[in-house]
Amino acid sequence: MAHDITKGSSGRPPVVVLERKEQAWAFMVDRFREISERAIGERGRFSAALSGGKTPEDLYLEMGRLLKDLEWKSIHIFLVDERLVPPGDDRSNYGMIKRTLLDMIPMPAVNVHAIATEGVDPPTSARKYEADLQGFFATGEGNIPELDMILLGMGEDGHTASLFPGLPDLAAENRLARGVEAGPGRIARVTLTLPVINCGRAVFFLVIGKAKAGIVKRVAEEREPGLPASLVQPGEGRLFFVCDGEAASMLDKDPGRSKTA
Ligand code: 6PG
Repeated sequence: MAHDITKGSSGRPPVVVLERKEQAWAFMVDRFREISERAIGERGRFSAALSGGKTPEDLYLEMGRLLKDLEWKSIHIFLVDERLVPPGDDRSNYGMIKRTLLDMIPMPAVNVHAIATEGVDPPTSARKYEADLQGFFATGEGNIPELDMILLGMGEDGHTASLFPGLPDLAAENRLARGVEAGPGRIARVTLTLPVINCGRAVFFLVIGKAKAGIVKRVAEEREPGLPASLVQPGEGRLFFVCDGEAASMLDKDPGRSKTA
């Protein structure tokens, strides 16, 4: 499989460019296998936070097909964010991840860390999710857990997870999860906070399609401040952008870019 990897020189995170989206799925399936096996070998368990949205649906189907043999009893799946709708609703991230991945793999139900969506307001649901994270990672108040892998998407407006442009205190947030109230055209949500995302051991943006080409350039290359996705800065060696050719089409073809087979 041929792909380009920019070196991530001059402070830029590396961008892995796969020509077709199917190659991006294969790349991410391999990363999930590799990172989970290493984490289980070193620490006895693997924790991953998965995003919703349209982009990763086919990836999760591929994971369900190709990763059945993983040690799922040692793998814990968290959600990057969730809309406060019942699990059967089309807009539920849990519902989508269950249909595409969880129903296809032998994972104990207790290893799935869903976000409460019924009979709760966003702040209460966020507190519950925070308590789940603290319990799992045995971290006290004020400590940030290190998820082994976080898979993020990106909106054309530069949002990621449910961290939208204009939300106050994104970087200064001292909680693990936050509620995002419903707004015009937006349903109430709960999301991991930026500090949790920035503590991830391996954080991937998966961005596919021509419509995202402009925002990929502004976030991955220009690191435009003010865009929530640009605030994802987990430290050297921990952040990767994975794009298809269309999403990467506006990136500089600079000399730092190297071909890997
Ligand atoms: C969600 C995600 C959100 C998503 C981006 C990209 O549940 O919608 O948390 O951050 O990753 O909006 O969405 P698409 O993949 O649908 O473009």
